[in-house]
Amino acid sequence: MTGDRKTHWDCVYREKPEASLTWHQDRPAVSLALIDNAGLTPSSSVIDVGGGTSRLAASLLAIGIRDVTVLDISGVALDHARDQLGDAGKSVKWIATDITAWSPDRQYDLWHDRAVFHFLIDPDERRAYVANLKKGLRIGGHAIIATFAPDGPEKCSGLPVVRYSPAELGAVLGADFELITHRNEMHQTPMGRTQSFQFSLFRRIA
Ligand SMILES: C[S@@+](CC[C@H](N)C(=O)[O-])C[C@H]1O[C@@H](n2cnc3c(N)ncnc32)[C@H](O)[C@@H]1O
Repeated sequence: MTGDRKTHWDCVYREKPEASLTWHQDRPAVSLALIDNAGLTPSSSVIDVGGGTSRLAASLLAIGIRDVTVLDISGVALDHARDQLGDAGKSVKWIATDITAWSPDRQYDLWHDRAVFHFLIDPDERRAYVANLKKGLRIGGHAIIATFAPDGPEKCSGLPVVRYSPAELGAVLGADFELITHRNEMHQTPMGRTQSFQFSLFRRIA
């Protein structure tokens, strides 16, 4: 499964210009608004799971966060993201792996995921993700998880997804996570379509 998935995403990032990717955003505005609620300081650590070529890492560096990690299954995406950042990219840690097959070796203050968890349609993979979230996020730390909302599309990048409300997502994460707040976003794709997303901010309480 990991091999097929990696091939899919490497092809997408090799073949499509970034500005044509349906999920592309010039500025991750909703993520940054929720990050404001997480009380980060310059010494906080952040991991962007399935970060692809998102501008989030650049935005975090711009607000003074120095400990930034970007994880993605696609090494091609990470190469593009590193090139985009230029010298600033040298301070970012880049991890090319499948989130469900990885094991974090440290804990972060903030875990961010926009449009990755929703691809996990197999319950075992969701369990592996949540186990990694617990290993990789300190107690008291925050997780922002954005997925297609219940009225969002059934597929993303041609792959089936599971759509969530904030409460449904909270139920999958379990009692160790408290839902702090959430936002809805009607994302405009480069082709002019609208995709309904939910962004939930959780705190790890146990
Ligand atoms: C829809 S894109 C979103 C990219 C980025 N988060 C953003 O908001 O621009 C999904 C990303 O998740 C990555 N991805 C998909 N499945 C993954 C997995 N199992 N482990 C790690 N990354 C994954 C893809 O390579 C892709 O970069």
